[in-house]
Amino acid sequence: MKSFASDNYSGVHPEIMEALSRANQDHAGSYGADNFTSKAIEKFKEYFGNDIEIFFVYNGTGANVLGLRTLTQSFHSIICSALAHINVDESTAPELFTGCKLIGIPTTDGKIYADEVERRIQRVGDQHHPQARVISISQSTEYSTVYTTDEIKALSSIAKKNNLYLHMDGARISNAAVSLGKDFAAFTKDAGVDILSFGGTKNGMMFGEAVIVFNPELSQYFSYIRKQGMQLHSKMRFISAQFEALLSNDLWKRNATHANAMAKKLEQELMQVPQIKITQSVDGNGVFAIIPKQITEALQHEMHFYVWNDSTNECRLMCSFDTKEEEIERFVAKAKALCSAL
Ligand SMILES: Cc1ncc(COP(=O)(O)O)c(C=O)c1O
Repeated sequence: MKSFASDNYSGVHPEIMEALSRANQDHAGSYGADNFTSKAIEKFKEYFGNDIEIFFVYNGTGANVLGLRTLTQSFHSIICSALAHINVDESTAPELFTGCKLIGIPTTDGKIYADEVERRIQRVGDQHHPQARVISISQSTEYSTVYTTDEIKALSSIAKKNNLYLHMDGARISNAAVSLGKDFAAFTKDAGVDILSFGGTKNGMMFGEAVIVFNPELSQYFSYIRKQGMQLHSKMRFISAQFEALLSNDLWKRNATHANAMAKKLEQELMQVPQIKITQSVDGNGVFAIIPKQITEALQHEMHFYVWNDSTNECRLMCSFDTKEEEIERFVAKAKALCSAL
C-alpha cells in the first residue's frame, strides 16, 4: 500500500540496495576507516570542493542537533522558523544537547526572512539574556517551499554582521537543488552556510545523513561531539556506500526530479477540484492543501496522508522517488468523486 504520508514511508532505491550489497562483502575497517567512506567523502568533494569536512551520521535529528551543538554554548539562542523540524519534531533533543533556547519565528510559508531575524537579535552582551548565535533554516522547508539563493545570502549577511552562524537543515536538499536548478554549493557553501545537514533518507537511502562543515574553524571538535551524541556508526561503510551511490550517476537528481514532478502533477490535478484549495507554493516534493473534512478519512483510505493543521484541515501530501502517476490519478479521481457527493 503506497501513501502520501511521508517521503520516508518509501522504501530504498534499488541502486542503493545494490550498493549496500556490494558493501556487504568481506570485512572492512570500522568507524569510517574503510574505502567506502573515503570514496563517499571524495564524491561530496566533487560537489562542494576540497575545503570541507564531512561526517556521516545515522539520522536527521542527529545531524541537526550535532551541527547546532558545534556552533553553540548553552547560554546561546538559535533562531529558526516556528515550524522548523528542530523546533517541533525533534522532541527537545536540540535543547537537551545544546542547552540553548530556540526562538521560533511565526511563518506562513515555512521560511524566515532577514529583517524578522534581525529583529530577534536582541540585548547583545546582556548577561541576563540568551545570546543569539545561530540562524537555522530548512531547505526545502517543512512546507516544501524553497529559499532562493538571494534569500539565503541575505540571512547569511545578517548572520555575519551580528557574529552569528548559519545552519541549514537539508533533509530535503536534493529536492531544493532540483527546484532551484542549481548546484548544491551555490545555495549552501557559496551563499554563506556554515554547517549543513545533507539528507539521504528521504531521497532513496535506507538511512544516513551527512554533516558538512564549510567553515574550517568549526570542524575541530565535531568527531568528539558525534561520539558523545551517539551518532558514530561502527559499520560506517553502510552509510558511506549509500551516499557514494546516491551521488553517482545523478541518482540524487533523478530521484528528486521525479518526486518534485509528481508533487507538481498532484498539485495541478488537485487544482481541478473546486472544493480543494492548495495552500503553499509547490517548490519541492510536497503539496499542502485544504481538503474538506467530511471526505478526509475516505480519501486517506485510498492513499494515506496526514492532516497538518487540525483547525483548517490543511493536509500534507508528500511524494517520493517511487510515487507513480497512476497513483496520483487514482487519488484525484477518488477526491473528485467524494467531493461531488458533498
Ligand atoms: C525538515 C526535516 N528535517 C530533518 C528531518 C530528519 O528527521 P529524522 O531524525 O527522523 O531522520 C526531517 C524528517 O522528517 C525533516 O522533515
